[in-house]
Amino acid sequence: MRHLIDIQEMSIEELDSLVSVAEDIIANPVKYADACRGKKLATLFFEPSTRTRLSFEAAMYELGGNVLSVSSAGSSSAAKGESIADTAKTVSCYADIIAMRHPKEGAPYVASKNATIPVINAGDGGHNHPTQTLADLLTIWREKRRFDNLTIGLCGDLKFGRTVHSLISAMSRYSGIKFVLISPEELKLPSYVKYEFITEKGIEYKETTDLVAAMPELDVLYMTRVQRERFASEDEYMRLKDSYILTPDKLEGAKSDLSIMHPLPRVNEISVAIDDDPRACYFKQVLNGKYMRMALILKLLESVNEPCEKGNEVGDELRYDLECKNARCITTTEQELPHVFKLVDKENGVYRCIYCESKA
Ligand code: NCD
Repeated sequence: MRHLIDIQEMSIEELDSLVSVAEDIIANPVKYADACRGKKLATLFFEPSTRTRLSFEAAMYELGGNVLSVSSAGSSSAAKGESIADTAKTVSCYADIIAMRHPKEGAPYVASKNATIPVINAGDGGHNHPTQTLADLLTIWREKRRFDNLTIGLCGDLKFGRTVHSLISAMSRYSGIKFVLISPEELKLPSYVKYEFITEKGIEYKETTDLVAAMPELDVLYMTRVQRERFASEDEYMRLKDSYILTPDKLEGAKSDLSIMHPLPRVNEISVAIDDDPRACYFKQVLNGKYMRMALILKLLESVNEPCEKGNEVGDELRYDLECKNARCITTTEQELPHVFKLVDKENGVYRCIYCESKA
């Protein structure tokens, strides 16, 4: 049985195949209309969402399946103090597949270790968001017809933006990729993402605060919202919230075939004056997300009789004597969850939390 917790769990071949299935769904929707007849998807969303939850639900309905939904933490037993493990075991009795969004980093991973059905990470804190990456990949494919030889600018909150982390992790596996990381000093890409997916792989990259200067070389510009809910201080958010606002004048030096992307919701990062520009792709991304989630649900439901994959911790060098200091880690709220760290960089003796990837 397969889960999707981190986009790295999907090989390039599997990502290509999800894109092909999504393209086939777009071309032949009727062929898929009964594909999940009798199956139930549980959407467990402990954090706000419009697109991700509704696109999962629309995806399941369009496959002929049904949906059970928890749309806020306050409306489920989480509000009574139930653990993620118990929730996952419970929902496994009712549904065939789970999509979970949670403010705590590593929560869907913990769910996958306890559920008897496939679990999909629909966004965990400021950590990962693999299914947004699926939407992004189909969009890049449909716009560019290639995944290699692209210069990708990522702009805004690269620190807390989970969509950015998952997208970099996926794109770093294609050849000829260059990343331009555009953010204020305070919102730079976390060091583990930069190390694991950029510097360690020898990928070309540049860090800058200047969006306009970076514009001419970009094939893709991925704008992001400053993630207010992840800031420890409201003052700090207020200071940084308007760091980048894309207006038509800032596109003057841009390529004529630039693809302007954004996972949405936008606050003010992209002026509505850009919405009619043929280079704007963000509403196409929304629709592409539904098709990729249909392809993913099909793939994971097909995997239920396969032997379980190796877990994150099997075969790795682990330590159980360290404590995770990340306030957003699932270990801070799940009382009996063991703190487990794995060795990720032998040379420098770096251990990272298996749930949220924070350094020991
Ligand atoms: C993103 C998320 O939730 O991380 N939204 C989405 O799922 N499309 C981006 C965001 O909230 O800024």
